This record gives sequence, structure tokens and C-alpha cells, in this order.
Amino acid sequence: MKHYVVAVDGPAAAGKSTISKRLAKILGFTYIDTGAMYRAFTEYVLRKGVDPKDEKACCALIPEVEIELFPDGKVICSGKDVTREIREPHVSGNVSYIASYKEIRLALVELQRKMGEKSSVIMDGRDIGTYVFPNADVKIFQVASVEERAKRRYIENQEKGIPCTYEDIVADVEKRDRIDSSRAFAPLKPAEDSILLDTSKLNIEESVEAALKIIRDKIGE
Ligand code: CDP
Repeated sequence: MKHYVVAVDGPAAAGKSTISKRLAKILGFTYIDTGAMYRAFTEYVLRKGVDPKDEKACCALIPEVEIELFPDGKVICSGKDVTREIREPHVSGNVSYIASYKEIRLALVELQRKMGEKSSVIMDGRDIGTYVFPNADVKIFQVASVEERAKRRYIENQEKGIPCTYEDIVADVEKRDRIDSSRAFAPLKPAEDSILLDTSKLNIEESVEAALKIIRDKIGE
């Protein structure tokens, strides 16, 4: 049976994971949160007291890092449940440095490609349609205004009990977008054959509907 790959890329806090999780449920595909993998690696770097800006020292940790993603969203990294911590500001504030290191990306991309071979997947990230799965069946590039993205992440953090201010979120989102778009290896950018989904004025249900239409038009399910 053919395994489909749906790639959902886009800037920080655009709602990719919320939409992708719902799509996965509707379509019966496996949802893979690649951002959680970069976040878990970052938590490990901080756990070990390594400077996230020290590329050599961070890359030296690759053999020690073992990341497991569970269907309920749980993330285990080298023996520790990091599900909650990877969403906290100290991880968000450093993850884009870690994600800019080629050796670390290559290690995580290898895992992502293996996951994509096992079943039909919806994978969200920054480089899924451009680098991880350039032949993905569907490529969605999901965007929203900075204000809308920061508002959504602020509300999400409030609900999860993660302390932050709206201004901190705007700064975090803008900083990550800047680093993610300008890195040398596999930067954040729309694949040429991606379809733009602007959710600035759409609620969750409307965004899911719009994404489903894109997917059904492409793979006819
Ligand atoms: O949920 P949010 O959009 O805030 O971020 P995320 O998807 O959890 O990704 C966190 C960070 O990981 C991003 O800002 C990127 O630096 C990095 N990332 C990446 O470089 N490539 C991916 N495929 C996924 C995430």
C-alpha cells in the first residue's frame, strides 16, 4: 500500500502542529512533530551545561541523544520525559541555534525519513518539503501574521501554565524566524511546489477545512 507524505512547513507558532494533529486524526495518518526533536536536542544540550552557541560541543553530543516521540505527544530524550520542558522559554530561546548545525540536522533528518517510511505521515517543520521529503505528495506552507502567531502562542502558553509575556513571545517568534530563514543548511523557505495556507483570518476549523481541501485535491482521498 502506498504511504503518503504530507509536509507542513512554515514560520514559528503558525499553528502547524494544531492543524497537523487534527488532519492526522481525520486522515488516519501518523503525525510527526519534527520541531519537538530539535527542541529535545536543545533540552539535552542545556541539561549537560553545554553552551548552545558552541557548535562543536553541541555536535559532540549526537551519539548520546536518543529521541522518542509517542502518539500521545510524549517526548522522551535520553531517559528523561521532556514533554513539558521543551515548550519552555529557555528551550525556545536556544533551539534555533541548535537547528542551524548541519551535523545535528543530518542526524535528526535520518530519523524523520525512517519515520516517513513506516506509514502515511503528516510531518510539520521548516524544511520538510524542501529537504526532508522533496518528493512529498502534498506540501503546505502555513503562515499567519506575527501578531496573530504571537497571540496564539501566548494563549497556548497560558493554558499550559508556561509563564511568559506577549512581548516575550513576539521577540521569540521574530528571532527564531530570522535565524531559521537565514541559516546556511536547509533554511526555512517555501518549496517551489508548496501551496500557501494563510491562517491569519481563519479559526482552527476553517484552517483544517482549507488544508483538507488542499490534500484531497492532491491525493484524491
Ligand atoms: O511550534 P513552533 O512553530 O514554535 O516551533 P517548532 O515547530 O517546535 O520548532 C522549533 C524550532 O526547531 C524552530 O524554530 C527551528 O529552529 C527548529 N526546526 C527546524 O529547524 N526544522 C524543523 N523541521 C523543525 C523545527
